[in-house]
Amino acid sequence: MGDVNPMVLPGVYAPQDDTELLAGALGEEPLPPGARVLDVGTGSGALAIGAARRGGRVTAVDVSWRAVCTARLNALRAGVPLRVRHGNLFDPVRGERFDLVLANPPYVPAPGGGAPPRGAARCWDAGDDGRLVLDRICREGPGLLRPGGVLLMVQSALSDPDRTVGQLRPAGLKAAVIRRHRIAFGPVLRGRADWLRRRGLLSPEDDEEELVVVRAELPL
Ligand SMILES: C[S@@+](CC[C@H](N)C(=O)[O-])C[C@H]1O[C@@H](n2cnc3c(N)ncnc32)[C@H](O)[C@@H]1O
Repeated sequence: MGDVNPMVLPGVYAPQDDTELLAGALGEEPLPPGARVLDVGTGSGALAIGAARRGGRVTAVDVSWRAVCTARLNALRAGVPLRVRHGNLFDPVRGERFDLVLANPPYVPAPGGGAPPRGAARCWDAGDDGRLVLDRICREGPGLLRPGGVLLMVQSALSDPDRTVGQLRPAGLKAAVIRRHRIAFGPVLRGRADWLRRRGLLSPEDDEEELVVVRAELPL
């Protein structure tokens, strides 16, 4: 996130290790001036603002009004233009095409029988297998890319990155895991470690989570 030091309203996701990992991958993507960028699930707007600072024409989307307000405020503070839309995933940008799509979606497996999460948990909880939003991005994301366009998405190894890659390739994308980073469990995973172990997603000795970035490119 470099020099972006975003403020966050209560209930909005403060940039964390996953944001940082995706920001690193973003930093390695060429971003020609005026490239169209989408940051879906923008939260504080940190990634969107990072792309806008590099000259991208950036649209940010979030389902949370607090996140939308936060991202708008942070863009004003940073002095960069940012189009921020409220809505569910890709709904606000239907029919548009992008050179780069960034996503740090909710990806943590959550007890609760697949019921949609509420409140702040909408930032991380994603159903029994953690794929409630990931699967939608894999299904709908490829259709938003221009030829040569790239999807960069961060997720946990707990929510099956191989499945992400396996879902993106049939859509014609060249997809692979390009970054991995291990972190100590945060409060959310610590609180449900027993449930994850019962489900076979963690072994008894696991006390770290692996985050990965998937990069998928639509050939020219
Ligand atoms: C893990 S946070 C990431 C925030 C920010 N991009 C970052 O990297 O710090 C996930 C964000 O996705 C948003 N979100 C969750 N479900 C969504 C949906 N269906 N459509 C749009 N945004 C969603 C949440 O409100 C939250 O801001």
